[in-house]
Amino acid sequence: MTDMLRAPAEVKYAEELDWLESIDDGPKPFSWRLSPKMVRLFVLGSERADGLDREISQKWFGDRSFVERSIVTLASDRGLLLIGDPGTGKSWLAELLAAAISRNSTLVVQGTAGTTEDHIKYSWNVSMVIAKGQSRASMIPSPIMTAMERGVIGRFEELTRSTSDVQDALISILSEKYISIPELDEDNIVFAQPGFSIIATANSRDRGVNDLSSALKRRFNFVRIPVVTNKKSEAEIVRFRTSELLRRHQIELDVPPNLLDILLQSFADLRAAAASATSDDEKLESALSTAEQIGVLEDAILHSTFFGDRTLRAETLAGSLVGSLARRSPEDLAILNKYWHGVVEPRSKEDGGDWPQFLEGGRQAIATLS
Ligand SMILES: Nc1ncnc2c1ncn2[C@@H]1O[C@H](COP(=O)(O)OP(=O)(O)OP(=O)(O)O)[C@@H](O)[C@H]1O
Ligand SMILES: [Mg+2]
Repeated sequence: MTDMLRAPAEVKYAEELDWLESIDDGPKPFSWRLSPKMVRLFVLGSERADGLDREISQKWFGDRSFVERSIVTLASDRGLLLIGDPGTGKSWLAELLAAAISRNSTLVVQGTAGTTEDHIKYSWNVSMVIAKGQSRASMIPSPIMTAMERGVIGRFEELTRSTSDVQDALISILSEKYISIPELDEDNIVFAQPGFSIIATANSRDRGVNDLSSALKRRFNFVRIPVVTNKKSEAEIVRFRTSELLRRHQIELDVPPNLLDILLQSFADLRAAAASATSDDEKLESALSTAEQIGVLEDAILHSTFFGDRTLRAETLAGSLVGSLARRSPEDLAILNKYWHGVVEPRSKEDGGDWPQFLEGGRQAIATLS
């Protein structure tokens, strides 16, 4: 188990889930492994007021109302659609919920333009069909079909990217709750067991590519996840993810709190600039999400570990920030250049601290890329 590049939540937190299950005496919907309150506790972590014998770590950061609404939806007849900007933690929340409720978060279909009905229903093992004919044994169930048979949660990532055919097939699965297999003469219907539901995610920036049909919309409850703009929660997310990353790479390195502040501050500044921009050319292509902040810090940490002296410096952080955000040339570079001149430079004069090194590192990175 330890040599997985990235363990699914039910494996990573198996011990915590076992413990929660052992103390859980609340009523559980269907075949859920945990009661709704315990699912919420697993996702949002424990507080002293919960009076538990041990601490449960917070894994997803955001308003508890989103988590509660998601849990209630999954106990209802409808699917759950988590929608929001890129990097707002939708997939991570979906994984945590599936892990807590079903102990399986890996029954996932990825929505792309190439996703077909087979991917959400079933396909055939061709060599077995040739040898033995079509039967349940030669059928390959999709992750969604498997979730139906087991009465657990299936996931559909990036729902809006799939074509309308696929979306239509999903409508019938969500309303009839069975899949028929017309190729077979008998045993040709797979019924969903109680507990089956779907958590889908959709990126709000993708919308319009394939606008969801109103029939499908009615079968989902929408939970809109906003970009975290509260600096304190954002700092917590970044810290949580970074400590995990360091552990995974077995890196011993301290992230100085003032560098974390600089990272959060510069993202906040750049978001404010994007909000007041009047055209797309004046807006960074990046959504400036928390996930991207984590990416910048990860990049800086690895750079310092591989090529530096294992100390995270402001110059390196600036280089990683520019490198990650300058996707379009010249537009993004111009925006960053303007930010560096207009904001970082004066701040480095006024506030001092690590800002002068941040200023220098960013200048160099911009010059290299220009
Ligand atoms: N609110 C949050 N709580 C905890 N972690 C978060 C949060 N937001 C983002 N993250 C972290 O950011 C990373 C990206 O999140 P995730 O993949 O879930 O985003 P997403 O909303 O699904 O984005 P996309 O629309 O691009 O698929 C994950 O590693 C996740 O842990
Ligand atoms: Mg996602």
